Amino acid sequence: MNDIVTSNDQIRELLKPKEEVFKKEVILDNSSNLIDIILAKNTLDTYKDTKYQLEKLHDSLKDVFDYANVPYELRKRQFINATGYAMSPQNAVTTIKDVFRISGFVRAINMAIQDLKKSNKNKKLNIVYPACGPLAPLLLPLLAYYKTHNIYSEKDFQITFIDIQKGAILSLKEILKVSNLDIFVKEILLIDAVDYRTDEKIDLVILEAMQHGFSKEGHLSISKHFATLLDDNGIFLPQEIKIEAVLAIGEEEYNTQWKESDIASSQNINEKIKNKRVVLGEILKVNLESLKNMEIIELDENTKLIQCSTFKIPIFEDNSDKRIMLFTTNVVIYKDEILREYDSGITHPLPNLDICINFVPQEQKESDLCLKSQDTIVFYYKLVGLPGFLVTKK
Ligand SMILES: C[S@@+](CC[C@H](N)C(=O)[O-])C[C@H]1O[C@@H](n2cnc3c(N)ncnc32)[C@H](O)[C@@H]1O
Repeated sequence: MNDIVTSNDQIRELLKPKEEVFKKEVILDNSSNLIDIILAKNTLDTYKDTKYQLEKLHDSLKDVFDYANVPYELRKRQFINATGYAMSPQNAVTTIKDVFRISGFVRAINMAIQDLKKSNKNKKLNIVYPACGPLAPLLLPLLAYYKTHNIYSEKDFQITFIDIQKGAILSLKEILKVSNLDIFVKEILLIDAVDYRTDEKIDLVILEAMQHGFSKEGHLSISKHFATLLDDNGIFLPQEIKIEAVLAIGEEEYNTQWKESDIASSQNINEKIKNKRVVLGEILKVNLESLKNMEIIELDENTKLIQCSTFKIPIFEDNSDKRIMLFTTNVVIYKDEILREYDSGITHPLPNLDICINFVPQEQKESDLCLKSQDTIVFYYKLVGLPGFLVTKK
């Protein structure tokens, strides 16, 4: 029944006039302008210009579903698979607007390609971009820039794009074809990234499949798989993700500190409020080394865990003992290209609202874990349909 009923919002969408903006020139020119800005300076100095260009690019690409004839149910389809959440293509197109994330990855990928070109001389590089989404936003503008300025051609590298959402794959194919950027394509695969197999070692992996607090999406499982496929001299982006557990005062952390700021970023963090935080410490570090050595505990067929750190909750001073727990993330994309706390949607500190430290919530939930100073707690990372951290009292 559902399949043959067109909903009112779908009909409204169908009635909208289609703008003639999905054109090769728009994508190429806009992308080139964007990359000129991003490569010139650091993100904070170019924030406004980059934001403007990204919004323009988003607006010129967001109608891709119409042009690629992606059925409505595929645009909105979201699901949870064994390794994580697959965001709907319709929501995934908005990730191109995340200024710090796109800028950081663009500079990092550009640097990594330059480094690989230097060390591999004339070799054609094998690049893989799993969980690329419908726009492949970390790489697409850079490809347009390389082509427009004749910096690299299809002789320099070939790319495999992978996504588990059919709507994303159909859209990406259309964009690459319209903009003639398909010259760089080796394959565009509709598969679960952890099922990718190849005989040829990968020179560069570009992966970003996480949400804040390193939650929900399958970044860790996908990283673990691709770490085994990387050439010994290859580069894995991001190089390192570090997550810490922090005890904070919720109201100050999320409200007071941002009242005066236009942009939330690591540069605008209020030092006084930051100093009141208590950092329990690092709970997980993800890099090539740690991925190799990670021990996985298998509880049942669908439930795997990684044991992380153990900490003791300290005694607080100054009547500031009622705390919430945050998971903070810092991402070293490549060398000095770093996404710090609050810079991006993926590094926004995630509050774990089930953990109550030195207080009992007015309305208790079954999932609440009430803890006191001096309790010892153990952190696990859950490799399940919705990955994320689990805290237990020892
Ligand atoms: C937020 S979107 C796009 C992320 C993209 N890397 C970016 O930078 O904007 C996440 C994408 O990852 C895809 N995805 C999630 N898990 C996947 C998996 N196991 N294999 C392949 N694609 C996956 C989803 O289908 C979705 O299109």
